[in-house]
Amino acid sequence: MKQIRLKIPSPLQQLSLHSDSTAAAKAVKYKLWCKRDDLIHPIMSGNKWRKLAHSFNTHQDIRHIISYGGGFSNHLHALGYFCHQENIQFTARIRGDYRQHPTPMITDLSNWGTQIEYLNKDAFKLAREQPKYGYKDGLLHIPEGGFNQSGLQGVSDIIKELLAQHLAFSSEPVTIVLPVATGTTLAGLAKHAPDHWFIQGIAVLKGEQYLEQNVQSLIGDAYTNWHINHAYHAGGYAKTNAELNEFLTQWDHAHCPIERIYSGKAAWGLQNLVNEQKINSKHIIYLHTGGLQGARKA
Ligand SMILES: Cc1ncc(COP(=O)(O)O)c(C=O)c1O
Repeated sequence: MKQIRLKIPSPLQQLSLHSDSTAAAKAVKYKLWCKRDDLIHPIMSGNKWRKLAHSFNTHQDIRHIISYGGGFSNHLHALGYFCHQENIQFTARIRGDYRQHPTPMITDLSNWGTQIEYLNKDAFKLAREQPKYGYKDGLLHIPEGGFNQSGLQGVSDIIKELLAQHLAFSSEPVTIVLPVATGTTLAGLAKHAPDHWFIQGIAVLKGEQYLEQNVQSLIGDAYTNWHINHAYHAGGYAKTNAELNEFLTQWDHAHCPIERIYSGKAAWGLQNLVNEQKINSKHIIYLHTGGLQGARKA
């Protein structure tokens, strides 16, 4: 990788909960941290870099990448930028037809020279199910959202960084809270975390059982150090509600920028779990997985 400068290790910041809330008093027993993976890079931010890093580092002679996603996909956006910088051909297969009204993400892809293919729902499903993912003869074919074993490997670096960043994490119980969409990031954390850590996912879409199966398909069923909470998706992927919106404004004032699709739902879940004292460790790490580009309107 020649061109892209990354902020690795990403910063670890201490957080405090809102001072006007009774939750703040209850939260005293917790120490809250934010792992700012959103700061890794303005575009290759958050778990995008983590999930793709291993593929990029393993295959030095990639000439063409193909991948899949929706019209606001952070995954396609990161890949588009990477391919542009590294002079690699990129084909983005996008669910839906945005030719009349391209999203900001699609406009960026066009500017970066991506070859865009719009597929209707059925064609997208069919194309995605073709079992030819992986690397062959210069072509890297990546599933939607980076859902594969290579993704897990890059995620393991988050654990290594955290252990190096705070001495207490190596001996005291830790819970990592993060958003879950494909389950790849959660699976990577569960697989590589020390025994005294717990990984608490917050589902950002309606996917009870499906998300758990995704995780199990990546790491098997021997791991019992993780759980996905399904109470904070606000009705489904990219859906929102008044309580979530209210929470997002408070959080933005108090902490770091988040968006409503991933990081916002995870932070909302975290706040509620803390309020209800449902987290069983002193140290809580909120993993900021980035994604702010997806929130752009124009
Ligand atoms: C910003 C952001 N956070 C979190 C996730 C969810 O991660 P995962 O698909 O690994 O569960 C995604 C989507 O992949 C994302 O774009």
